[in-house]
This record gives sequence, structure tokens and C-alpha cells, in this order.
Amino acid sequence: MNIIKQLIVLSLPLFATPSFAQSKEAVYLDDKKPIEERIEDAFSRMTLEEKVAMCHAQSKFSSPGVPRLGIPEVWASDGPHGIRAEVFWDEWNAAGWTNDSCIAFPALTCLAATWNTDMAALYGKSIGEEARYRNKNILLGPGVNIYRFPLNGRNFEYLGEDPYLSSTMVVPYIQGVQKNGVAACVKHFALNNQEFDRDHINVNVSDRALYEIYLPAFKAAVQEGGAWAIMGSYNKYKGEHCCHNQYLLKDILRKEWGFDGVVVSDWGGVHDTKEAIYNGLDMEFGSWTNGLTWSASNAYDNYYLAAPFLKLLKSGEVSEEEVNKKVRNILRMIFRTTMDKNRPLGSFGTEEHALAGRKIAQEGIVLLQNNKNVLPVDLSKMKKILVVGENATKKMTVGGGSSSLKVKYELSPLAGIENRVGNNAEVTYVRGYESPAVIEQDVKGAKAPEQKVIDVEGLRKEAVEAAKSADVVLFIGGLNKNEHQDCEGVDRKEYGLPYNQNELITALAKVNPNTVVVLLTGNAVEMPWVKQVPSIVEGWYGGTEAGNAIASVLFGDVNPSGKLPFTIPVSLKDNGAIALGDYPGNGKDETYKEDIFVGYRWTDKQKIKPLFSFGYGLSYTTFTYGKVSIDKQNISENENCTVSVKVKNSGKRAGSEVVQLYISDLKSSLPRPVKELKGFKKVYLNAGEEQTVSFSIDKRALQFFNDSKHEWIAEPGKFEALIGASSTDICGRVGFELK
Ligand code: BGC
Repeated sequence: MNIIKQLIVLSLPLFATPSFAQSKEAVYLDDKKPIEERIEDAFSRMTLEEKVAMCHAQSKFSSPGVPRLGIPEVWASDGPHGIRAEVFWDEWNAAGWTNDSCIAFPALTCLAATWNTDMAALYGKSIGEEARYRNKNILLGPGVNIYRFPLNGRNFEYLGEDPYLSSTMVVPYIQGVQKNGVAACVKHFALNNQEFDRDHINVNVSDRALYEIYLPAFKAAVQEGGAWAIMGSYNKYKGEHCCHNQYLLKDILRKEWGFDGVVVSDWGGVHDTKEAIYNGLDMEFGSWTNGLTWSASNAYDNYYLAAPFLKLLKSGEVSEEEVNKKVRNILRMIFRTTMDKNRPLGSFGTEEHALAGRKIAQEGIVLLQNNKNVLPVDLSKMKKILVVGENATKKMTVGGGSSSLKVKYELSPLAGIENRVGNNAEVTYVRGYESPAVIEQDVKGAKAPEQKVIDVEGLRKEAVEAAKSADVVLFIGGLNKNEHQDCEGVDRKEYGLPYNQNELITALAKVNPNTVVVLLTGNAVEMPWVKQVPSIVEGWYGGTEAGNAIASVLFGDVNPSGKLPFTIPVSLKDNGAIALGDYPGNGKDETYKEDIFVGYRWTDKQKIKPLFSFGYGLSYTTFTYGKVSIDKQNISENENCTVSVKVKNSGKRAGSEVVQLYISDLKSSLPRPVKELKGFKKVYLNAGEEQTVSFSIDKRALQFFNDSKHEWIAEPGKFEALIGASSTDICGRVGFELK
């Protein structure tokens, strides 16, 4: 071989072009080869600069890949309710594309309220297809932070207060997304349970509460869902920011759970180069990208994991193995997504997705109260329907922070009601109350709207007048995703409804006994008028098809079957986190003093009667529960027992019931909740139909986390299996003993 030829051969890997890369020798491009082999091969061809470049963003939502080797860019998108509109390269505002209007799916609280894993699978599949079509390989969702108290601005993005419910629902969502070759990025890991001081509050929590309450959904996402990505949270734990937190990312996520995916930072969640290098973060996003960078050239080069990282690597102060570990994780995610040649093509903005969203919304809507069977509205009798409330017409897919969406369409509740009623009755709308105008989210150059004085009295009077002659009043209100009303970055300031809605509801109920309250919220709200109105519906934020979904329940085309994924206390002081007074912390630290007693675990322990309990929801039919039986009275640690109950639809129409299993540990060496959810099944029963519902109980249902031993243990002794229609409506119980 002459010298020139030799030089060409030697330099080939360095100057490899994608066309060379596609030749047979390139193991990393050969999808018949095992993924780990491909990773090592790709990796061996990369320069140090290329490796470092992969570890940080190049724009708001992307990182560069390795163009020289044909390794594609990484593109992430919010999540978790639809695929966010494209934004400018380095600005948060929508870029104004004309082909990025998505289908909005219901908020995750609504998904949790379906208590139906098939709905979670349908949600994941559909949103995954939308992400894939838009060429995103990371979906920034789902969010599984536990609902600790009703003021958290982001509760609507999460799956409720219970670790078992959220763990069970998150798994099919992730699997559905990832079938599309899109990585689900579970967020925000961990302990991001409030927005107040979210970027620095240091959470003090016992190991028991951490493992029993706050981590299970993440663990299920990783181990059962097989999530390919996870996002660190903004807050601190043990004094370290969670995006580079040794305990969470290294000790728990990687070592205890064996996570082999990619860890991405929350946007702007990185604060320290050394910690980012050593404590398990792989990709840094969102730092200094406000366009006002201190860098002369490119802000992204000055990320903690950019130039400062490269400098440390080049000087030898940090070993190359540190960047290698990160690149391996990033490549693994890329091979699973964009470089999987067999991944499907996806689809976007389709009718199929809109209908999937509608189905989920219909199953998630919760009927909280229905005295005198005012619902469903009987169109043969109700000829004058009055719709009141700003939320009947307000766009709910816009606002709320990073989950805000640009949608193909959003059908409002008023439009849904009008569609459904058609010529069968007269529908009149009056607003009744109004919220102050806000700057439109995501719109470049949007100006603060002129604030006009809201005529509270006048609006109320007009509605009350109209209510006097209506056959039925459908009040549609709640929160609205404006600041402090279910919105990222800020918590709610009060438990009550805003914009004088309480006074309005009371006044309407006084003049019209058929006043139905439909709440659109992602959080519990105070309901001082609960005894004055016959019917209350929690309608959530339903997405694109919200209006049709709500109308189908109000007029009885769909029999409601949602159950609350969180407790609605009478007042805020009935919530443990609030009662013990540590929220919102002292600006530096916050201690979760209620410990493992979150949600119904607290109201059970304190014997507080909630306004509406966790797991509660009515139907237009009734269900009766038979005697609860068990196949074995005694079990050993590795044995299962089966608890069964007959459930009958004792009413006149078909409907679904969520049968819930709670376990109570009658005596234990450590304090335990009165009971904990350990199983649920949603069964569809025709009128008069009966079905036996069974649950298998294994040791996981009996265990608690022993913090001194740092392990899950099931203590021998007596237990009870409780079957309920909600956490406070226990229909039967049966005892058994773990030997
Ligand atoms: C949010 C994340 C989101 C990210 C990107 C952050 O402010 O906390 O949930 O995915 O922004 O928009």
C-alpha cells in the first residue's frame, strides 16, 4: 500500500460521510446487530467535541446528533397532552407554522379519572403517533408527580394522589408512546410537588414517604413501562438540584432500578458543571436561552455541559469515561427511536385521534352529585336550557405553561351542548362572570390586552334573570389555566373558585332548583354551595373534543364512569400538607411533615370526612356489591390469595363501575395508612347484569418500605382486604393472615 492510500484509509473514520457510513462495515448502521454493539461502534467513530455536543441543546428543543456520521438530531416536544407548536430556534414563542396544529388530549387528571388502563394505552398510542409524525423522538411527558395538595399549579398535568393508581396508569401510556419509536420522558423526577419556589426549594422527606408515595410511579414507568427517558426536576433534594442529584439519579434510578435510558434536565434546571458531569445527567436543555446570553457568540456553547465540560475533559481533569457514559445513553435512545428503521410513520391531527381524546374525556368525567336526578337532562321535558359561565366558551387548550397547545380545533362546552340539543330545545348563553384579559401565551409580540372594568354585579344579574325562566341551568366554570388558576410556574393562591363564581352559583341556585354545576379544573376546589345545587360534574380539561364529551354526559348519551383520582377536602385545612403548615416552605427548605399520609391516607388517619373522596364518582345507574370472599385465609410470603366480589348493575341502564381493592395492615411495627389502594378494575355491566370481580393479592400489596433496612418488607400478621366503590364507600371486607 503506498503512503497516500494508507493515509486515506487511516483518515476514513474521521471524515466518514453518511454515504460511507451506510456501507456494510458500519456496524452502528446495521440494525441486525445488537444495540449495544452499535452504540460502541458509533461511539468509537466520534470525536470528543462531537460527544460533548450531544450532551447539550443546540436550540430550545433539540440537540445536534452527529451529522458527520448520519446520526440524527434529537427533537423533543411537550407533552404531556398534545404535541406543542414549533417554537423559534431560541425563543419560546410559536414560530407560526401552518402544519403544526395538533389534537389536544384530555389533561392527565382526566386520564387518571378513567381508572381504565385501556384508556391510558389509547392515550399513549395516539399521542405517540402525533409525536412521531411531527418527527419528535422525545415526548416530554407523562408527568407523574404526586398530587400532594390542591394548590399546586401543575396538578392537572399529573395522575393524582395515589402511587398505585398513577403507577398503573403510567405504564400503558408509556408503552403506547414508545411503540411509535418515540421516547416517553417521564417527569419531573422527583419531588416537584409545588410550583412556588420550584427552582430551588429543597425538599426534606422521609425515605418511607419517598419510596412509598413519591417514587412508585417513576419506578413503574422505568421498570414496567420501560421508559427510554426521564426528566430531572427543578427543585432540590438533599441539597442538590434534582437534575444532577446523586441520590436520585445514580443511587436510585440507575443502580436500584437499572434505568438504561437518557436523563434530560428540565429546561434551565442545570446549575453546576461538576454535578452535571458526575451525578447522572445526560442532556442539558434550556439554560441561558433567553436570547440575552452572556456569550458573544452562541449561548449553547456556554452550557454547563458544553465548553466548560469540554475544557475539563481536554485538560484531563475529568476522565473521558464521564462523557462516554452520557453518550452511550443518548445513543441508546436514538437507536431506539430515530435510528429504528422499522418505526411506524405516525399520523397527526386525525379524526381517529380526536375521537380517542373524546372517548378518554367521556370516561374521565366524574359525576359528583346528582340529587333528584336532574342529570341527564331530559330533552323531552327541558325546553329552555340556559348555559352560564366563561368556561363554556373559553379555550382551555391554551395557557397553563409548557403544556399549552395550538390545536386543530377545540370544541367548547357551549358548542358541544348546542350540537347535541339541535332543534330539540332552546339554548341560551350568558357569561355570568368574567376573568381579566391576559396576554396570549406563545404569541410573539403579543401585547398586554387592555383591561376593562368587569361589571361583576351586572353579569351576575343578567345570568340570574335568565335563570329564572330556564328549565335547567348548566353553569360551566372552574379554573382556567391563567396564572394561579392551574398554571405552571405559579401555585393557586386560594382554594375557592376565582372571579366571584361562588356568589354567582349561589344566586343561580336560589332562583332555579335545576342548577347543574360543571367544573373544568385540574384541581380540587372549595364548594360552599354544595348543598344548594342538585348536580355537580367534574369535567376536567378535556382537549379538542371537550365540548362533545361534556354534552354526551350531560344529556345521557354516555353514562358517567369516572372516579376521582384525588381527594376533594371540604376546606384546605383538611389536607395534611396544608394542615401541618410547612407549605410553601421557608424559601429554602420544605419538609413534608405529613410524611406518608398524603390524600386519603391523611383524611383516613385523621378521621376527616372529605367533601368528595378519592375513588368516588356516581353513575346514572346503580351498582350493588355482594359479599366479599377470599380463597385462602392464610398465605406465606410467596403465595397469592384471591379476593372476589359479585357486582351487579341494579339500575336501569348499562354502565361501568370501578371496583377498588384496598389493603389494611392491622398491626405493624411502623405506622401504616388505615388502608391503601392495591387493585382496581373497571367493569361494564348491562342493566341487571352481574359479574364476579377478582383481585390477586401478592406480597407487594402487603409491603411497606422499611427505612432502617432500606428494603420493602411484608410483615407477618393480620391483614384485611377491603372492596369499595370509593375510598370511603367500603362495601365489604375480608381478613387473612400472612404467616
Ligand atoms: C417544564 C417541563 C417542560 C419544559 C419544556 C419546563 O419549564 O417544567 O415540564 O417539558 O419546560 O417546555
